[in-house]
Amino acid sequence: CGIVACRMDESAGPFLIDALKLLEYRGYDSAGVAIRTVDGTTASSRTTQRVETLERQLDGWVGPALSGTGIGHTRWATHGAVTETNAHPHTDCLDRVSIVHNGIIENADALRLRLQTTGHVFASEVDSEVVSHLIEDELIVTGDLRTAVTSATAQLDGSWAIVALDAQTGRMVAAAHRSPLLVARSGRGVFAASDINAIAEWVDEFQAMSDGDVVELADEFSWTRSGAHSAPPSFVASTWSGATHGLAGHADYMGKEIEEQPETAARIIDRLAPSIADGSLWASLSVPAFERVAVLGCGTSLNAGRVIASAFGALGDVPNSSLIASEASTAIVEPRTLVIALSQSGETADVLRAIDDLDLGTSSLVALTNSDHSTLARRADSMLNCHAGPEIGVAATKTFVAQVITGVAMALSALAATRRIDRDYARRQVDDLRRIPDLLAHAIAASQKAIPPLIDEIRDAQGFLFLGRGSGVVYAAEGALKLKELTYRWAEHYPAGELKHGPLALVEAGTPVVVIDSGDRRIESNIAEVEARGGRVIRIGGAGSTVPALGLSLGTPMPGGIDRWGPLESVVPLQILARDLALALGRDVDKPRNLAKSVTVE
Ligand code: G6P
Repeated sequence: CGIVACRMDESAGPFLIDALKLLEYRGYDSAGVAIRTVDGTTASSRTTQRVETLERQLDGWVGPALSGTGIGHTRWATHGAVTETNAHPHTDCLDRVSIVHNGIIENADALRLRLQTTGHVFASEVDSEVVSHLIEDELIVTGDLRTAVTSATAQLDGSWAIVALDAQTGRMVAAAHRSPLLVARSGRGVFAASDINAIAEWVDEFQAMSDGDVVELADEFSWTRSGAHSAPPSFVASTWSGATHGLAGHADYMGKEIEEQPETAARIIDRLAPSIADGSLWASLSVPAFERVAVLGCGTSLNAGRVIASAFGALGDVPNSSLIASEASTAIVEPRTLVIALSQSGETADVLRAIDDLDLGTSSLVALTNSDHSTLARRADSMLNCHAGPEIGVAATKTFVAQVITGVAMALSALAATRRIDRDYARRQVDDLRRIPDLLAHAIAASQKAIPPLIDEIRDAQGFLFLGRGSGVVYAAEGALKLKELTYRWAEHYPAGELKHGPLALVEAGTPVVVIDSGDRRIESNIAEVEARGGRVIRIGGAGSTVPALGLSLGTPMPGGIDRWGPLESVVPLQILARDLALALGRDVDKPRNLAKSVTVE
């Protein structure tokens, strides 16, 4: 979910709507705002549609004039169905306190029961609503919103980023615990938001809240933790710019971001190349010596991490492993492990929980993220930004490529700095990295020709298999993930050798089987096995590639068959396949159903 709040001289409505549009990537099941009216009541509007609908509802507002103080929310449903009553903001019985919440209140059921026995009536099924009722109770006793929020949050278990608005007094208080929230101030007012991106046009710097912080959003922020005054964190300059948004003539952000990949890759490689072979990139991270590597992440970031982990192994014989963040809490990290946590947003709760729970001992944690400002970046021992630029489409595309290139650059630099590879060898690898932008550009041009004619043929297929061998397996995984996210069709990936041990039973006449050929000749027998059952093979790379230009670059193993970072350009036809099929099926490719770009609950 995404939350935002403002107290400004100008009307709050347009600001909240603009900010919510920029926060929609965090969830778009429903949206809502509560704005204080000039006569001290609350104007509230909610919808299960998108923010545009909320904007129209607000334009049609009839009632007392709206002030500059308000809160807004865009929801990714966890507790309670997608209905208007379950949408935020939630209020108390007196309609005095409105709250927006991101996170999960783990003891909500117990609190709700207790509150009900003292006469509280609940309007929704969501855990968040208990917060407004708790604040109401405390406000009656103390008459002070900040004290009320402090006492209310002291009763909560779980995670929260909350802004509470008292319509009677116009006071607004923010609280955070294990959920991102930042506060900011400028000549135009005071603000709070889940992500600086949402308010970057209004402010130049911000302060990030930490666990247990409570801040009153007044002209002067006052910070407390556990009820006592605490030192405010330092101001951080915002590096985001409102100007980076916009479709620039593209039909959707996903299409735009796919096409940006060659330029993004070139920019990253140009920036990093001079500091790879001499080891200075690695030195700048100040990481102690390591003997093994473990990557952790979720979704597409986990796939990028797997490519990077394999590169450490293939290039420098470093033992490596990957951890699914949501399953990593009980993992044993051996001493002197370099742990690389990957997260585009740097806010994925599963990743943050994993790094909290892991016993790192003598191991060190490097964050690979797309946001300097993120919680992950702040919590890691050191941070490498993949500099992909803003990615708006919920399905990750260019950030995958950016993470792989940045992570491989880090691997090469680490291996050169620790003398596991010599500098000339590292320089030759950098030369190969420099070929990536062109390979991606060719892949885009070729895929845009080769994929559309396939779509009619596979349009009605309900299930897809994605196969690869060696370094191709992780790309098969990424292809299947994109297809599921975008088209809502079943897609599974397997190491191709596993086909005959089960998945082959799924193959019948016309079953689409996407095969990533990364140069292992044994893939030919797997293709034959599919074709013998009438399956429709879509071959990515190698001789006879469905996307021809790829045949030239894929399937050309390095001397000695070293796989390094695998067929990175194969991700392009996989992205385009998923997008084109999704568009043919009438899906919203930028906002697939049930998903969010940044999932801040476990
Ligand atoms: C969500 C998104 C995925 C993404 C994953 C990890 O589940 O829907 O597309 O790959 O989170 O996100 P992160 O920000 O940690 O890379």
